[in-house]
Amino acid sequence: MKRIVSGMRPTGKLHLGNYEGALKNWVKLQDSYECFYFVADWHALTSDYADTSQINANIMAMATDWLAAGLDPQKSVIFVQSLVPEHAELHIYFSAVTPLGWLERVPTYKEQRENITDKDLGNYAFLGYPVLQAADICMYKAHFVPVGQDQVAHVELTREIVRRFNNFYGDVFPEPDALLTETPKLVGLDGRKMSKSYNNTIELGDGPDVIREKVRQMITDRTRIRKADPGHPEDCDVCKMHRLYVAADVADKYDDDCRNARIGCVERKRALADALSEYLAPITERLQYYRAHQDEVRDILLAGTERARAEAGRILGEVRRAMKIAWY
Ligand code: TRP
Repeated sequence: MKRIVSGMRPTGKLHLGNYEGALKNWVKLQDSYECFYFVADWHALTSDYADTSQINANIMAMATDWLAAGLDPQKSVIFVQSLVPEHAELHIYFSAVTPLGWLERVPTYKEQRENITDKDLGNYAFLGYPVLQAADICMYKAHFVPVGQDQVAHVELTREIVRRFNNFYGDVFPEPDALLTETPKLVGLDGRKMSKSYNNTIELGDGPDVIREKVRQMITDRTRIRKADPGHPEDCDVCKMHRLYVAADVADKYDDDCRNARIGCVERKRALADALSEYLAPITERLQYYRAHQDEVRDILLAGTERARAEAGRILGEVRRAMKIAWY
């Protein structure tokens, strides 16, 4: 089986957009690949070094959501980056062969240096962010890296580091490919992209009551003032989202009723809320279980970490021998 590696920075609780955009795909990939999924807490430190107070709680909250979403410790290795110090050692070797110019040219680096003003990102670790990511990926000789569009440049840089490393020391690492998750960006409650920083999310743990209340606030077709006005489901966030969670013929029927003013927006919202609640029910149920059994979550992470370390240690041995720095 080919190998997959992916990670997420510990941002805390995940929302429906995180699930549709990444997690759902991770769950599916477990059946066709040998998967290594980890919490990238060192990556959080590259920018959030000044205030570390949330990191530990965020690691647990995110791992809890992963398990609720269906990541399965029987199938995948699920672990915490900072508990596998082997990543740091490989990062050192990769740092040695990575020209500074490559890092300064990474688009996400330039963009964030310009746009983020509330923290000082002139630190060494922030520039090295993609080198650490390359070490994460190569630590397990991954063939594929499931990521969103925003991370493609990092996987591309990983390939360049691998080429340069292999050139110096022989063929140690495969060149990994990004596995693009092509899901449409989920809109949030306010019509912008669903994002924690916009405070417009549906969370994985929202039960039917919360979902109904949140969906009630969503914006529908702005040109439809009265129920008797014909609606335009193609311009309506509620209608479009509803289509994602019901069968096509059901959505078609609702669209038709909306265009002909046979149903109002309130009814469509109720239908969306019902569909979402049903869709999320198994996740919410597992979430309740794991929130009540945090020790189990912790044990799963520790057991996964042990498996990761065994593999990482083996590969590091190979790396040191290839580099001829294993003098002992
Ligand atoms: N940089 C990724 C993100 O922000 C997280 C990450 C760290 C990662 N290491 C990784 C993703 C290795 C894939 C593989 O989303």
